[in-house]
Amino acid sequence: MTDHLTTHLDTNYMINQLDDLGFVILDHVYHLDYLKNLYIECVHGLDQFRKAAIQDGIARDIRSDHILWLTDTQVQAQQHIAMLAELSQLLNQAFFFGLNDIEAHFACYNAGEAYALHRDNPQQKNHRVISSVFYLHQTWQPHDGGELRLQDRSNQWHMIQPLPNRLVIFDSHLLHEVLQSHQQRLSITAWLRNDKSVWS
Ligand code: OGA
Ligand code: MN
Repeated sequence: MTDHLTTHLDTNYMINQLDDLGFVILDHVYHLDYLKNLYIECVHGLDQFRKAAIQDGIARDIRSDHILWLTDTQVQAQQHIAMLAELSQLLNQAFFFGLNDIEAHFACYNAGEAYALHRDNPQQKNHRVISSVFYLHQTWQPHDGGELRLQDRSNQWHMIQPLPNRLVIFDSHLLHEVLQSHQQRLSITAWLRNDKSVWS
């Protein structure tokens, strides 16, 4: 996979955890120079972020973060997408998911912001199979809040700290929420999907 990855990424561990629990936490994912480039690209785009709760002109109160959908103009983030595309191939080999597309956005939660309990793919109504969140703020302490609280396949709840350089991958069907953050929390959320055919 990409040159930016550290050797910490253990794909066997990833597949086993996904199989057992429906989610996996991967730490120290990228070399720090690439993490910094991603962070800079995200921060430079911040004035273009829009309220995520507004869809089709209608405001919903489930979430208070701001997002920016990724396009080809975010060259650093595109390398993260390329890594996820390779990961998708591995997951396809292990689970026959048929993953063939990725949608992704930067997200920014400012102090006081949160995302209430939800599933990314309720009742299989969309083509999201796997959700991934990569955290790219520079520091995080336990008192900064902003945990991802997620229910695994056997209904156990997990409190996952949004540590920098951490990638969380989970079944898009699982119930989860983002607890109130007490400082700026920056991430890339990406969904691995099984709809259109774009890769050969
Ligand atoms: C989402 C989401 C979790 C997180 O964007 O749908 O649940 O930890 N994000 O940011
Ligand atoms: Mn979600």
